[in-house]
Amino acid sequence: MDFKSNIIVEKLPEHIAIIMDGNGRWAKKQGLMRVKGHEKGTKAVRETVEGCAELGVKNLTLYAFSTENWKRPKLEVQTLMRLLVSSLKGEIKTLQKNKIKLQAIGCIENLPSKARKELNEVIEKTAHNDHMTLTLALSYGSREELIQTVKKISEKVKNNIIDSESIDESTINKHLYTRNLPDVDLMIRTSGEQRISNFLLWQMAYAELYFTDTLWPDFRKENLFEAIYEYQKRERRFGKTSEQL
Ligand code: IPE
Ligand code: IPE
Ligand code: MG
Repeated sequence: MDFKSNIIVEKLPEHIAIIMDGNGRWAKKQGLMRVKGHEKGTKAVRETVEGCAELGVKNLTLYAFSTENWKRPKLEVQTLMRLLVSSLKGEIKTLQKNKIKLQAIGCIENLPSKARKELNEVIEKTAHNDHMTLTLALSYGSREELIQTVKKISEKVKNNIIDSESIDESTINKHLYTRNLPDVDLMIRTSGEQRISNFLLWQMAYAELYFTDTLWPDFRKENLFEAIYEYQKRERRFGKTSEQL
């Protein structure tokens, strides 16, 4: 089936978030080292970014490295950081061509200085782009983000900038790393795992979840289009009844 031509442009998800999982298993299946899977995963990133830009999806957030991923073997962590630098260098052209603005969420200060420098350069160079926002979650954990949010708000309460009685959902939204992004509409996870792994817990409160067995290095535009097509078939009720919609 040609999923792309069956996608309704008016009903596109405003924000897609992806847990790019299965690189290690992809490599193992081919008898390769885990890091080869990460290398192959960069092609899937390009396909996904281009696919979203083609359709006109405004916000794409990719989970690239979690706060928990620091616990992996040192060599694997080093490879992932090296790949981050080389992909940023390699993808800047695609970002500019498609008018995509790059931003990052997470404990960016924990990344090696070379990765931070490259990241900041691309963020600066693409800051004026307005076709789409690509957010990389790097050293990101949703619980850590919520802790930072609570700290920022309580500091403002202490300094009488915020009245604690007035705290509502928008107060929280404004203090998250994702403050400039809408809620997640569609969350995709590859590799067959069906869990959230500390990703955007608050922002996904009403997201549609889509799980596929495809391993991340095999993920192509067609897989993205299929996920969006499936998303559009669902009825999002937000607590109401079908009749009320
Ligand atoms: C996702 O693939 C990439 C990162 C978490 C950085 P994995 O490396 O988790 O691959 P599997 O889950 O071991 O197959
Ligand atoms: C989640 O994948 C993090 C990223 C994709 C960056 P993991 O492979 O680390 O998740 P778990 O540990 O299997 O839940
Ligand atoms: Mg994994």
